[in-house]
Amino acid sequence: MQPKAKFRKDYQAPDFTVNDIYLDIQLDADRTFVTSTLKVERKKVGAKTLRLDGHSFDFLALKVNGVAYLQYQKDDEALTIDVSDLADQFELQIETALNPSQNTSLQGLYQSGEGICTQCEAEGFRQITYMLDRPDVLAKYRTKITASKAKYPYLLSNGNRIAQGELADGRHWVEWEDPFFKPSYLFALVAGDFDLLEDKFITKSGREVALEIYVDRGNLDRAGWAMESLKRAMKWDEERFGLEYDLDIYMIVAVDFFNMGAMENKGLNVFNSKFVLAKPETATDEDYLNIESVIAHEYFHNWTGNRITCRDWFQLSLKEGLTVFRDQEFTSDLWSRSAKRIEDVRLLRTVQFAEDASPMAHPIRPEKVIEMNNFYTVTVYEKGAEVIRMIHTLLGEELFQKGMQLYVAENDGKAATCEDFVSAMERASNIDLTQFRRWYSQSGTPELTVRDEYDENTQCYRLHISQFTEPTADQLEKLNLHIPVKLALYGETSGQKIPLIDENGSVGDVLSLTQAQQTFEFYHVSERPIPALLADFSAPVRLSYDYTIAQLIRLLTCVENDFSRWDMIQTLFNRELRENLFNYHQGDLMQFNMDFLEALKVLMDDENVDTGLKALMLTLPKETEFAEQFKIIDPQGIAVVRQYLLESIATACQDRLFRLYQENRCGAYRVVAEDIDKRALRNVCLSYLAFTDQGEELVSSHYEEADNMTDTLAALIAATKAQLACQEELLADFEAQWSHDGLVMDKWFALQATRPDDDVLAIVEKLMAHPSFNLNNPNRVRALVGAFASQNPKAFHAVDGSGYRFLVEVLIKLNESNPQVAARLIEPLIKLSRYDNQRQTLMRRGLERLKGLDNLARDLFEKIEKALL
Ligand code: TRP
Ligand code: ZN
Repeated sequence: MQPKAKFRKDYQAPDFTVNDIYLDIQLDADRTFVTSTLKVERKKVGAKTLRLDGHSFDFLALKVNGVAYLQYQKDDEALTIDVSDLADQFELQIETALNPSQNTSLQGLYQSGEGICTQCEAEGFRQITYMLDRPDVLAKYRTKITASKAKYPYLLSNGNRIAQGELADGRHWVEWEDPFFKPSYLFALVAGDFDLLEDKFITKSGREVALEIYVDRGNLDRAGWAMESLKRAMKWDEERFGLEYDLDIYMIVAVDFFNMGAMENKGLNVFNSKFVLAKPETATDEDYLNIESVIAHEYFHNWTGNRITCRDWFQLSLKEGLTVFRDQEFTSDLWSRSAKRIEDVRLLRTVQFAEDASPMAHPIRPEKVIEMNNFYTVTVYEKGAEVIRMIHTLLGEELFQKGMQLYVAENDGKAATCEDFVSAMERASNIDLTQFRRWYSQSGTPELTVRDEYDENTQCYRLHISQFTEPTADQLEKLNLHIPVKLALYGETSGQKIPLIDENGSVGDVLSLTQAQQTFEFYHVSERPIPALLADFSAPVRLSYDYTIAQLIRLLTCVENDFSRWDMIQTLFNRELRENLFNYHQGDLMQFNMDFLEALKVLMDDENVDTGLKALMLTLPKETEFAEQFKIIDPQGIAVVRQYLLESIATACQDRLFRLYQENRCGAYRVVAEDIDKRALRNVCLSYLAFTDQGEELVSSHYEEADNMTDTLAALIAATKAQLACQEELLADFEAQWSHDGLVMDKWFALQATRPDDDVLAIVEKLMAHPSFNLNNPNRVRALVGAFASQNPKAFHAVDGSGYRFLVEVLIKLNESNPQVAARLIEPLIKLSRYDNQRQTLMRRGLERLKGLDNLARDLFEKIEKALL
């Protein structure tokens, strides 16, 4: 049977609701018994059948109002109960039995290491028991867990611990009650033996909250950073958003087997251990910052997600876009705002723009879904956050916060829609968002084309901006959007910033583009200006303006906005790659533009540029970043030309790079901005120097001297990218030191998978049998197979089709064991329209092979169907 799609337009309120659930869980890794007692209420007069979602367990018994009941029908996905003779309120009791140790899907109730945990978002609760498993059914939960005390000394669930006891047979039990109404996707249970880090937080109204972080035994020394991050997040949300925590306890559990990053279950977050555990020897600076931001993200969900949840899954961006926006602001307030912005824009421009150009293109609020797990996407999350950010740009912080307050006041305790949010923002600010709403329903990346004219005599400057959105796979017709364009003008000769004055006088720096074409006029412009367009990336669009190299270099030195500075250099890098790829295709010699090279030297010498920004500006875009400027991608050509650019800079700037390398040494490892920036700059320099005659010596000593994972990994990366003689020795040393630690080995696996070696696929295939590898662990799979397919385009897109064949083999296995992870891994294979005919044919062949599987999961089915259209 073919999986069926659901449409946003078909939403209907449920006929019944569940007000109260009591779960009695007899926990065991191989056979768990669940008795669920539901207080059901009929909402629609005369409703006769109650359809409860549920699958992948043994159904043992059903009682209605305490009496065995047989008027039901069971199919693959649900239990349909005839309730025509029942009153408007009745009680159901459902008994099921499950096998957590065999549940490799990591959804529902499953075993992770020695412990047992749950993952219910989006539709995992229905793998535990029958339920109205939809986010607009809000119930009060009470959960009693009984299990072996020796194996599972900790038994956790949402809310407050209200009772506990011991049984004669060595088992014990704990009962939990969550006072807040919540949808089933926020339910959680964890059982196991852990080390526990405890702390507390006093809220602004003076309540004390117990903070508990549970990690695998032996990892206590890696939990401190997560705890500090949690406290910073709690404080920040009070200060910037006025939002306070609402329970007396907040628990975080780190597990090794997890499909995503982390999960915001009420009062009991479950985390991928990758986003909890950190100490200097095992975690990089990037890991530290990611941990802080994921901890904050899940914490912020307590208001934007839990207290106010989603009416239906099409509204996912209501909680995710907003919560990503909030975690971005948190990181920006605590660290460098421009560095955070640059990082987010890099992700958006590569991965999200690519998604919009793919068969999976969808608006931030999708219209049609087959498998909900497929819509936890960069579009819903990152583009969703950009849409919130644009509202923030249009309203300003004060009105935005006023809008937030109204949104919270109106929707607390409810399941809301994106429209509820926009409407609150609109009413609080009195700013018309009618046209702006199209960002929620339109997919695709708008392209802005900008032309300008300057009249020296009248001192008038005109900007002509037009917008165009290409049709996407899901939507042929596109409407004009309301696009905020942040602008600054700089004098071409003086380099001075020119004030923006229109016919009404001085104006703000954000233009509102609402039509297909618009002209903006500025007066008293005393010299020919160069426009710095889309500062801070004020909208998620592509922009084209015909800058000369001279103009870009001019802006590079005078523009005040750090994001724009970085953006100018991206434009220069992109141009350099394009021109040389053309030369390469023509069989001509490649050459690096001398003016650009000079500008890079000036940048290296410029002591007024902040260290962190300098590191970002000197970072050569990745192959996947370069690729996004092409409709048809030549992965092999891009790799060759990028390599040429890298070596050209290394050779021409060796002295400067070496000087910066030496100047930016740090003392003993500390996670502070100053040192992080220094390490970043120093390691960027190393990545170039590895290609010079100093490479061997510098990289070996860098590895040896490193007292932290950031530097260790930088040395390893440099050694493998430059294929230095020392690489095998360093790789072996790292492996010997860390093979017991999966999280650390992930760095090593990813590094191996992205090696430039011609035989990298053979290396990867061999590593699939490495003792530290495990196909059932999503982190391992992403590190080895995911990195190969998505971060080594040259090898994955090998013209003999070997990369595709390898991925398909892995997907065939994952289709059965973990379809959610399989469907993420297949992404590079469904973007076939971006490649030449030869590759397209091979990719299609791989997809067709998968399509022919007789037990193809709906996760893969949905993507393959779209790709093969
Ligand atoms: N809501 C989670 C978050 O934003 C995402 C998530 C975690 C998830 N685990 C999942 C989504 C499993 C789908 C399936 O942080
Ligand atoms: Zn989230």
